[in-house]
Order: sequence, then C-alpha cells, then structure tokens
Amino acid sequence: MGSTHATAVQATGHRYLSEADGTLAQRSPNQQLLPLTATVNQKEQLEIGGCDVVDLVQQFGSPLYILDETTLRSACRQYRDAFARYYPGESQVLYASKAWNCLAVCAIIASEGLGIDIVSGGELYTALQAGVSPTKLYLHGNNKSREELQFAVEAGCTIVVDNWHELKTLVAIAEESGVRRQEPERAEGAGEAGRANEQEPLDLAFETYSSKLSSVAAQSTTQNSKLSSITAQSATQNSIPPYSPHSIRILLRLTPGIECHTHDYIRTGSIDSKFGFGLDQLDDVFQLISREPSLACVGLHAHIGSQIFELEPHHDLGAVMVQWLSKAAQYGLPIQELDIGGGLGIRYTEADDPPSIDAWVKVVSESIAAACQAQNLPLPRLLSEPGRSLIGSACVTAYTMGGQKVIPGLRTYVTVDGGMSDNPRPITYQSVYRAVVANRMSAPLTETVTIAGKHCESGDIVIQEALLPASQPGDLLVVMATGAYNYSMGSNYNRIPRPAAVLVHDGEANIILQRETYQDLIRQDRLPERLQTLQA
Ligand SMILES: Cc1ncc(COP(=O)(O)O)c(C=O)c1O
Repeated sequence: MGSTHATAVQATGHRYLSEADGTLAQRSPNQQLLPLTATVNQKEQLEIGGCDVVDLVQQFGSPLYILDETTLRSACRQYRDAFARYYPGESQVLYASKAWNCLAVCAIIASEGLGIDIVSGGELYTALQAGVSPTKLYLHGNNKSREELQFAVEAGCTIVVDNWHELKTLVAIAEESGVRRQEPERAEGAGEAGRANEQEPLDLAFETYSSKLSSVAAQSTTQNSKLSSITAQSATQNSIPPYSPHSIRILLRLTPGIECHTHDYIRTGSIDSKFGFGLDQLDDVFQLISREPSLACVGLHAHIGSQIFELEPHHDLGAVMVQWLSKAAQYGLPIQELDIGGGLGIRYTEADDPPSIDAWVKVVSESIAAACQAQNLPLPRLLSEPGRSLIGSACVTAYTMGGQKVIPGLRTYVTVDGGMSDNPRPITYQSVYRAVVANRMSAPLTETVTIAGKHCESGDIVIQEALLPASQPGDLLVVMATGAYNYSMGSNYNRIPRPAAVLVHDGEANIILQRETYQDLIRQDRLPERLQTLQA
C-alpha cells in the first residue's frame, strides 16, 4: 500500500491523485482524474485497485485498459443513493452501455441494481448473456432493424421508440404475433383528445404522418433462431415473467429543443437532431398511440447530450418533460415513467469542473418533483441513463512508450503502442486527456511533449500537450479517464488487435477482455478458392 500524497504535489504525477477529503464513498468519481483507489506505492509506481500498474502490464501486456471495480461501483451507488435521497417517488438508474458494453461491466452494473440502456442487438445480446434481467433493459436507436426489434420484444425489453417508421414496424411485429387482434386496453378516463379521429384507420394515420419518409423497404423475415434460444435461456436463468402477448412496452423518445454546451456530435436534444420525435409531432404521435392496442406506451424519454457541465439544461428538461406528461394524460396515455437521459460530464483535465453526481441528481429530481406538484400530477417513475459519469473515470489505459522524434524549436513527439484504434475520441472530438508516467510517479514534470499514436494518420495524436517527467522508451504512459467511449468506439484500424482489459479490485486483477490476436483479426476473413493459389 502506498501514500496517496507526496510533498511536491504540483510538480509530479501525484498531482492527479484524488483529493483525500471525505471518504472514498463520498468522492464523486466523475470529478476525479484517476480512479478513486489510485495511489503511489513505495516503488514510486502507480497502483490502481491495489495492483501495481507496472506489474499489470508485465502480466497482461500493453496497451492495457485497467478498470477499477471500486470506482465503478461507487458511481453506481452514488447515483442510486442520491435518487433515493432527493426524489420522493420511485426511480431507476439505467447504465448507458454504449459507453462500455461487455459481459463483466454489465454484470457489475446489474449487481448494483441498475438497469441497462442498450442500442443494438449486440449490446442486448451481451447484456442478456451477462444475466441482466430483460425487464431492466431499454432498447434505444434511431434505426433499429426489424430483427433487433423482434429480438428485444421477444426478450421482454422495453423499446424506446424513435420515429414513425419504428412505430409502424413494431405494430407489424405485434400483428404477426397476434397482439393486434386483442381488445384495446384503453386507460381509464381516456380524454377527448384520445378519442378524436377514432374511426381513422391506423394505416392511413401512418401514411399521413410518415409521408416524408421514403417507402419502407421490404423487411427481411429471417428469424435468428440463435437469438430466440438465448432469449429463452436468459428468461429461464432470471425467472423473468414471460413477455406479455397483449402489448409491447414502449417509451417515446422526444426531441426537447434544449441547447447545451458540448461538442456538436454529442449534442442530441436540439431541434436539428437525428434522434426522436419533434415536438410538433407530439399530438399526432400521442393520438396514434392512444388508439393502438398493441403498444403500451409507459413512458417518455429525452436525452440532450453528453459531457455537459451545466445543471440548467437538465433542470429545464425536467420541467419540459412534465409538460409532456400532462399532454399525454389528455390522450388517456397512462404514462408512468419519465426517462431524462444521461449527459453528466467528467473531468478529463484539471481545468474541467463538472458537478458531482449528487448535485446532478438533486437538480433533476427537484425539477421533476416541483413541476409535477405545480401541475398536480402524480410523480412518475424517474429513469436516468448516465454512461460516461458512471464508468469514464473508473478506467485508465496503459501504453508502452516508444521512440521520440524531436523537431528542434517546434515539438517533441513521443510515440505509444496504441492510439486511435483504442481511443478514437481525440481524433473524433478533439478530446483532451491527461497522462502520467506510471513508473516515474514522483519524478518532476519537466517536459511538454506530444503523445503520438502508432496509426497511419497524422491526426492520430493521443495528447497534444502532455506535461511529463523525462522519459525513455519502455516507460509506461497511463492516460486517465478512458472508461467511456474508448473500448466501445475502438476499431481494428491498421489491423491492430484490440487491447486486453483487466478488472482490478483489492489487489486482484482479472481479465475481462482478452487481448485480440492476429488469428482473431482474420477470423471472419474468407479467401475465395480462386485466390488461394497465391499461397502456394
Ligand atoms: C439516449 C442516450 N442516453 C444516454 C446516453 C449517455 O450519455 P452520457 O454518457 O453522456 O451519460 C447517451 C449518449 O450520448 C444517449 O444517446
């Protein structure tokens, strides 16, 4: 066990260790640069989860994602506990697994009582294989395939419906399984609005509302038998009540028209967004759904963007969503859930100052509770979907440093054995990271260098300006806060195998992602027979 502090706090890698004020459980992970358990040991080397990073790389190779279980669990508990503290109604945190979806992460998240937001058949498959209850899975996506929808419906997940085309596909799926022939289960006291145009055939309504859409391509009816067996297996494992044949449980994704300050590519709540129904479509979609017996619309969803440091947009979003609730009530829609999305930012550099998890939950909870009280509406079950702020700060990436290229008077490039294939965020969003040299944690920070990845792109720069100690080839560079949208957005660009990931906890390290091999890289390749002569 090492010290958490050194005397020269400003001048060495110790500066990035989390502040020791408050207990570990009180420190909001999203406000830290290094995982909560990070320390410097007596060898002056970085330790995470009680494991020496130098030893980890020796054992598991480089580059290496190192995920700290304590930090991830602490973030889950802080979200959960804060909702219990501030929200007077029921709540459920869903982990936005696009941040990092794999078996071990899903299992940890589920063991903390969180549900999971998934955006593809692949993420759904992984979550089910990890043993997550489908009743806690919510399927997102702006272009879900028919197969993905079918898979999710059969598994018993909730579908977050994004657009007219998807509504139509879901109704068709329900029709095929006989749901449409059931009697409509109209809610008690359905309002006048819900009864308007009751005679209009549903298909006509769809034609009207989706006239701008290009004609729907013929859907493949290919069934994936493997998926069905997984679904059945998972349902048995979890003793899930079988999917009700009477309705498909849906939420509607709406675009609230709320602006926030973040990168254009991760801003999703403004009017000009590819996601969700526009507010001008609200009446039409509520009316249609209130007349469609096969769809049980239990909730409304919005997500305004990611890496947000302001609290006001989420405060405003809460109030706006409660207005939608009261409008839905006019159509007799028994909305029970409001899903306010994710978006809380994390600290990537010392200049970043995100609100704590506690502060974010307080604002969101109070905004919705106050708006419901003002409008005399019962409190909905409050869902949220944090991704980055749950897992971003729980992970670091260790790289082995290679050669240097010194351009006198201009810059020194220091190379590492990874880059844009394991962390595409710098080249995609111009994201800024900080790093330490794990085997020189107490050495003075004397050099400003550019950390260059190994890929054939000039833009493959991991860090433009990294303040580091004097280093040499073979040293270990640890880039901080790489848990979110690194592994999950990674690639095999340049046919570079994906790194391994280890989960560290109390001095134990377990592989959660095996390092890819060259054989893995060609596993899906096929060489047509007429080309095989080249191998002779
Ligand atoms: C619909 C939805 N929910 C939740 C999230 C998670 O956002 P974040 O990782 O910023 O918390 C995203 C990501 O952008 C999203 O698109």
